[in-house]
Amino acid sequence: MFARNRTMKIVLLIFAIAHFANAEYDNNNNSSTKAYLDLNNAEDNVILWKNLFIKLNDILDKTQKLDTKFEELSERLEVLNKRVNTLDNDLKTFCPNNQNWITIQRRQDASVSFNRSWEEYGLGFGDANGNYFMGLQRIYEMTNFAGPQELLIILKDFGGDTRYAKYDRFRIGSEEEKYALLEVGNYSGNAGNNFKIHEGHPFTTFDRDNDNNPDRNNAVVFAGGWWFFGLGYHGHLNGPYRQQHESNTWGISWHEFRLWNGSLKYAEMLIRRKC
Ligand SMILES: *[C@@H]1O[C@H](CO)[C@@H](O)[C@H](O)[C@H]1NC(C)=O
Ligand SMILES: *[C@@H]1O[C@H](CO)[C@@H](O)[C@H](O)[C@H]1NC(C)=O
Ligand SMILES: *[C@@H]1O[C@H](CO)[C@@H](O)[C@H](O)[C@H]1NC(C)=O
Ligand SMILES: *[C@@H]1O[C@H](CO)[C@@H](O)[C@H](O)[C@H]1NC(C)=O
Ligand SMILES: *[C@@H]1O[C@H](CO)[C@@H](O)[C@H](O)[C@H]1NC(C)=O
Repeated sequence: MFARNRTMKIVLLIFAIAHFANAEYDNNNNSSTKAYLDLNNAEDNVILWKNLFIKLNDILDKTQKLDTKFEELSERLEVLNKRVNTLDNDLKTFCPNNQNWITIQRRQDASVSFNRSWEEYGLGFGDANGNYFMGLQRIYEMTNFAGPQELLIILKDFGGDTRYAKYDRFRIGSEEEKYALLEVGNYSGNAGNNFKIHEGHPFTTFDRDNDNNPDRNNAVVFAGGWWFFGLGYHGHLNGPYRQQHESNTWGISWHEFRLWNGSLKYAEMLIRRKC
């Protein structure tokens, strides 16, 4: 700002000097008879210099007023800038109480296979209104860059019993981090806490064995991608869809609800911004 004012003053001075050097000065009532002042004439010189100083003073005065205006403008811009920053912050922390739950996974019948590759689990598959997996990449983005998220798991068995498990935090890693289940918060619900134990484990698919079991790939054994640990799972919602609950028909399984080797009729995972 300072440099700009300085430049402006210098430019104005150059204009003024150019103007007077031409000796054309018709603003002087006392020399109204003369179109041009004679620089060789002493009297004309006095008039010329006097008027030059009057004019320069005037210019300096106006420049100072301009300076004040610039300062005012700069202050106003600063206030405006602060307001924009506050607004930006408000937007980032904005969290209305009635946030919607967003479905990231759903099983309701056998029409969509969940025995899928690493790439397919990364991109997602199925239909958002039916059998669905949103995709690990999007889940990673939503759980890392849209504020803290909570997780709700809804389960139904073949007898019509509905249970839920809720976790007050849910976050997964990037593909470089093997989409690991980085955070599973505090449990509440009546289905049993069968997801917390998976915390910290990377995602495994039949073509990407990250389950820390040297003898087998759990995604091959249990026919679906999941955050398996070495021995397998306590809750696994991406297994094969079975038409009924029988013992040893593990599929969509939740141990504390219908045993690890039993199968459920319905499963849904939903996330929501946690305020
Ligand atoms: C010149 O004279 C006119 C009329 O007398 C007056 O209105 C004007 O302000 C004068 N200009 C200056 C620079 O003194
Ligand atoms: C005009 O010139 C006369 C005589 O030189 C002087 O007395 C008078 O103050 C001048 N008027 C102005 C407005 O400069
Ligand atoms: C989970 O519970 C612990 C202990 O009560 C508490 O300190 C922590 O803040 C809770 N986690 C979240 C995400 O609220
Ligand atoms: C899962 O898919 C892989 C690859 O297509 C296949 O080799 C395997 O047999 C499938 N598993 C089941 C249980 O269908
Ligand atoms: C299913 O799991 C339960 C509990 O681990 C076990 O007692 C039962 O024998 C299993 N059933 C079969 C058929 O493996």
